[in-house]
Amino acid sequence: MLGSSTTLLLAAALGANAQTLYEAISRIPVLSNFTAFYRNNEAFANLYFKNESNYPITFLAPDDKAFASYQAQFNTPFTDVPPQQLLDLLQYHTLVSDVTKSKLDEGSAAGLSVPTLLTNGKFNNRSVGVSMAAKFGGDERASGQVVFIKGENAGPSSKFRLMTRQDSVLQSSVRSGMSSDVNLTVLGDKEGVWSGGRFHIVDGLLTPPTLCKDTIRDAGLSNLDNALNRTKLWDTLDSSKNVTCLGPNDKAFGDAGRPDAKLNETALTGAIMFHTLPEVTYSDYLKDGQEFKSLQNGTVRVKIEGSGKNRTIWFNNARVVDANVLTHNGLVHVLDAVMVPLEDMNSRASATPSSTPSATETRTGTGTSAATSSAAGKSVIASVGTRAWTWIMYMLVGALVGIIE
Ligand SMILES: *[C@@H]1O[C@H](CO)[C@@H](O)[C@H](O)[C@H]1NC(C)=O
Ligand SMILES: *[C@@H]1O[C@H](CO)[C@@H](O)[C@H](O)[C@H]1NC(C)=O
Ligand SMILES: *[C@@H]1O[C@H](CO)[C@@H](O)[C@H](O)[C@H]1NC(C)=O
Ligand SMILES: *[C@@H]1O[C@H](CO)[C@@H](O)[C@H](O)[C@H]1NC(C)=O
Ligand SMILES: *[C@@H]1O[C@H](CO)[C@@H](O)[C@H](O)[C@H]1NC(C)=O
Ligand SMILES: *[C@@H]1O[C@H](CO)[C@@H](O)[C@H](O)[C@H]1NC(C)=O
Ligand SMILES: *[C@@H]1O[C@H](CO)[C@@H](O)[C@H](O)[C@H]1NC(C)=O
Ligand SMILES: *[C@@H]1O[C@H](CO)[C@@H](O)[C@H](O)[C@H]1NC(C)=O
Ligand SMILES: *[C@@H]1O[C@H](CO)[C@@H](O)[C@H](O)[C@H]1NC(C)=O
Repeated sequence: MLGSSTTLLLAAALGANAQTLYEAISRIPVLSNFTAFYRNNEAFANLYFKNESNYPITFLAPDDKAFASYQAQFNTPFTDVPPQQLLDLLQYHTLVSDVTKSKLDEGSAAGLSVPTLLTNGKFNNRSVGVSMAAKFGGDERASGQVVFIKGENAGPSSKFRLMTRQDSVLQSSVRSGMSSDVNLTVLGDKEGVWSGGRFHIVDGLLTPPTLCKDTIRDAGLSNLDNALNRTKLWDTLDSSKNVTCLGPNDKAFGDAGRPDAKLNETALTGAIMFHTLPEVTYSDYLKDGQEFKSLQNGTVRVKIEGSGKNRTIWFNNARVVDANVLTHNGLVHVLDAVMVPLEDMNSRASATPSSTPSATETRTGTGTSAATSSAAGKSVIASVGTRAWTWIMYMLVGALVGIIE
């Protein structure tokens, strides 16, 4: 076969490390189930992994623990997954570039969102932004759904935390759909290289991102769920492309006096549109001071403090407590407060610069402790909350209905 002789040539050209993926995974004891899976489905696996037009790729190989968890969760072995679903899954485990240890270290401060080969519209109804396309080989190459590799375990202290196996580092974790996080063991050049690129090890299967409806409910954001139920906005949200949902958590809704229950539908719709951005904003691409126009046209400004484990992101007055909850059409950033309009924050801050726990103070605080931040957020809500909601209702709602229809 032409395909395999070309692979051999490529392997030879790459030198001593070059081997097929099958050869490479066979050497790693914790990948025994995946190795057996490859062997038992050789025709399929070869077609997929020897497709050189996809190279270079980085495969996130599920270890034996991942196979066992899958079996325990679904009461059926991974091998029984129907072919289309299997293909979607393999594609979602395949990153479209050569993701080396040093690339992950570079991205470690903010984490790294990386496109995969998964392009099925059911799991990927978003378009790649300019910066991501430039970073990962162009619009077409980078068009697949992303995984988010967290930077939290990286940083100077844990950078070289060696595992028992030589040449490997417990780098971080991988975020996939439905808020799922699995551990990632990053392999170095000795073990993790094969002729098509690289591979690293994950200890659970990744979950392809799905509808906002299922994702938001799974994340336990029940007041937001209530708001979307009442405004009947689920279908609009789920059939839109490129969405960032800035989703206050239940405590945030509680602090703001339960607007999801108290506002009428028109006002609530306006508030939700204010919390929705018409583009996808992975946290690693966010910059301090960056501004977005919400669907309701109000401005949302990003504030970033700290780095690495301490990197804290705010949208207006609200702190992000769970970033990059991936959905088929974008993502949710979970917030610790209901956002107030930027204009309102500014006028508040300049009118009473020192006497009020203003949004500015909140945003320049340390932001490292959840208790401190949410207490500050609560003060902001208490002081400007009522006015903000009124402002949203009166000034902006009228025009919104047009967008939704
Ligand atoms: C994984 O491999 C072990 C040992 O070969 C085997 O006993 C087990 O059934 C396999 N598990 C799955 C889910 O394939
Ligand atoms: C190989 O990959 C290319 C690019 O992703 C794809 O268009 C093609 O269908 C694949 N071929 C096979 C046999 O899967
Ligand atoms: C989605 O976002 C991309 C990149 O920001 C943009 O080019 C594209 O027009 C957007 N698509 C829709 C349907 O809004
Ligand atoms: C990740 O590793 C931690 C610590 O070893 C463990 O408690 C956790 O269960 C692992 N996560 C998964 C998804 O296996
Ligand atoms: C939203 O509606 C769904 C479907 O009717 C329901 O199952 C769910 O409990 C509702 N959520 C809340 C928070 O009321
Ligand atoms: C993807 O988004 C478009 C809007 O840009 C929508 O018309 C289409 O139905 C969506 N597709 C899926 C599979 O959700
Ligand atoms: C919704 O509430 C706002 C503010 O309380 C009020 O101005 C508006 O008239 C109400 N709209 C409807 C349709 O009741
Ligand atoms: C994070 O903040 C803590 C407490 O302020 C500090 O001790 C630590 O060095 C910081 N870590 C990083 C990676 O900045
Ligand atoms: C937002 O602004 C655009 C033009 O800048 C306008 O077409 C649209 O109607 C406005 N939407 C709202 C809700 O005010």
